[in-house]
Amino acid sequence: MADFTSPYSEELQEALKNDFPLLQDQFYLDNAGAALYSQSQLGAVHRDLQRKSKKTERLKPLLTFPVTYIGELIPSPHSSSSTQQRIKIIRQLILSHFHTDLDSYAVVFTANATAAIKLVGESFCWGKGSKFACAREAHTSGVGIRELAVSAGAEFVSLSREDILNGQWRKAEGSSLAIFPAMSNFCGFKFPLSCVSRFQDTGYRVLLDAAALVSTNPLDLELTRPDFVCVSFYKLFGYPTGLGALIARRDALADLRQVYFGGGSVEMHLVQRLRHQPRSTTEEAFEGGTLPFLQVRDWLWGRGGRKWSINDITFEYKVIVIRIALVSTHLVSAASRLLADFIPDAWVCSAAACRRHVNHRRAHFPPC
Ligand SMILES: Cc1ncc(COP(=O)(O)O)c(C=O)c1O
Repeated sequence: MADFTSPYSEELQEALKNDFPLLQDQFYLDNAGAALYSQSQLGAVHRDLQRKSKKTERLKPLLTFPVTYIGELIPSPHSSSSTQQRIKIIRQLILSHFHTDLDSYAVVFTANATAAIKLVGESFCWGKGSKFACAREAHTSGVGIRELAVSAGAEFVSLSREDILNGQWRKAEGSSLAIFPAMSNFCGFKFPLSCVSRFQDTGYRVLLDAAALVSTNPLDLELTRPDFVCVSFYKLFGYPTGLGALIARRDALADLRQVYFGGGSVEMHLVQRLRHQPRSTTEEAFEGGTLPFLQVRDWLWGRGGRKWSINDITFEYKVIVIRIALVSTHLVSAASRLLADFIPDAWVCSAAACRRHVNHRRAHFPPC
């Protein structure tokens, strides 16, 4: 049976044990699919929602029904400037997480990375001579833009990994878009982020699909400067689900044209005439309907409610993977060599991709 010694101190191992108690009896192979939420994070969310505020304490004597406890009221952003303020702060914090700020980039909240990608595809100014260049390793959600682009008259170009690494694509002429995953969800391959500026130098706007990358890696937008980035936050923090973002450079966002408008995304509209005035705040012009404002608030505790600093997402992930190694080597001694070989890839693969990988390996290297 393979020996296993954790490279981490006993103190850290103990802290992790307490923050991820479910990992005591189970192992988790899908961290690239969705991160695990931690106990400290959930505790912080809970405390935040129950926090007594001085304002609501003052309300207590006015209430006609008995209450033992009132938390802070968190009204809808349509009716509360404090909720709006909080949302703005979270936008700022998200951008500082990606090493940039509200002057350079906007955070448009979406349901997930897919919705962010779709928003770009639907609002992009496709026209005569437009190209949509798509990495063959792009996630399905990225490839889906093809249908929107082609139906608007754009040319579709699929690029192999080698094409992208060697800069082999035709220059853009009209308004064109390129998409590639910063990290492939299928095999974990990381495209060099220098490809962003190489596409931009040949006339493309770039949609960097960072959904898989940022779950375990930092991303510096001031260095990389993509036009658009899509993320799903459950991939970083496990909780909340249903919250993602299109992070867009302000000049690139200004070039998008949204046809549909909905509650919150317009200053005014006239029903009888073909007139509406989009919201002056750029982000809100793209966010129709009421934001999931409690989930936006909970983002804070994914970012700061954990005992780990943000750079430790990678570290934490390694620990989880190492635990997989520990449990698995004890359970399947005959497969230990196979697992040792397999784990560096599991590092970045989703469970579905891992299953395919394992099946492939089993077919070619049957366990002894
Ligand atoms: C690279 C990449 N892009 C996009 C997505 C889609 O993310 P979501 O399903 O959260 O919209 C995923 C999901 O695994 C992904 O790994």
